[in-house]
Amino acid sequence: MSAIKTITVIGTGNVSFHLVKAFLNGGLKVVQVVARTDASAERFSRSFNVPVISSAPTLLAETDLYILAVNDDKIKEAARALNLKGQLVVHTSGAVPMEHLSGTSSNTGVFYPLQTLTYGDDVDFKKIPVCIEANDKENYERLEKIARKITSSVYDVDSDRRKILHLAAVFASNFSYHMFTIASALLQSVKVDPDILNPLILETARKAVHHQPGSAQTGPATRKDIEVMKKHLELLQDNEMYADIYRLLSESILKHKKKD
Ligand SMILES: NC(=O)c1ccc[n+]([C@@H]2O[C@H](COP(=O)([O-])OP(=O)(O)OC[C@H]3O[C@@H](n4cnc5c(N)ncnc54)[C@H](OP(=O)(O)O)[C@@H]3O)[C@@H](O)[C@H]2O)c1
Repeated sequence: MSAIKTITVIGTGNVSFHLVKAFLNGGLKVVQVVARTDASAERFSRSFNVPVISSAPTLLAETDLYILAVNDDKIKEAARALNLKGQLVVHTSGAVPMEHLSGTSSNTGVFYPLQTLTYGDDVDFKKIPVCIEANDKENYERLEKIARKITSSVYDVDSDRRKILHLAAVFASNFSYHMFTIASALLQSVKVDPDILNPLILETARKAVHHQPGSAQTGPATRKDIEVMKKHLELLQDNEMYADIYRLLSESILKHKKKD
């Protein structure tokens, strides 16, 4: 089977923005991007010099690869709408099994960038792990070849392992981010600039990367400082949800500590 020379990206959101940028920087040919609405098409056209169409998929030019960078629950619908005749189609989700694409083409795969991506942000795509899966070895190699043009980090991850990888990513990124949001809200409630936490947040991430998991954990739960924890819970008495989160996370830290 031939190398991937031409690409269509469906969707004009966060992942589409970063993939299209990386493909263009990597010398790959994005023939067209498919938008759902005229407004999304217009916004995307302002960022890239590629044709963005917001009309029926029957108007698509034929390409070697179709990338569905659409909401998880729209993957099947968007794939069906392409009316493919065996061309390679992939989605970019961490949580959706590859088999969701079966029945839409005989050549299917997954092209999952393991990073939190926001439209318009400046990221170094070369450092982002791309997790690939394909219905056969040949398609895997085709996808791997284009992945290596945009990143130095390519992983072979099947749907079962990707499910767990996505779950781990939710803990590492989404939940951590939510903790920063809660911390910021607490500081705002006493009129302290949340930016005061920035050095702490950056150092926490640095430690998470440079130390063994769990080994650099500090704080009252690790020290089993029950009095401080009680006082913290008193301060959270008007916010049941924050108090529950505090209790659960402290218990989890204590349990991990016992295992060490
Ligand atoms: N963002 C991340 O950090 C990240 C990282 C890795 C993987 N992913 C995965 O990548 C996929 C896309 O995520 P995202 O963050 O880019 O989402 P997003 O920013 O919400 O973008 C989704 C895009 O899909 C379009 N769309 C929805 N239904 C469609 C349909 N039926 N046909 C054509 N286009 C359709 C939306 O159109 P409108 O603009 O009109 O709404 C939007 O442009 C998801 O599977 C997600 O799990 C996301």
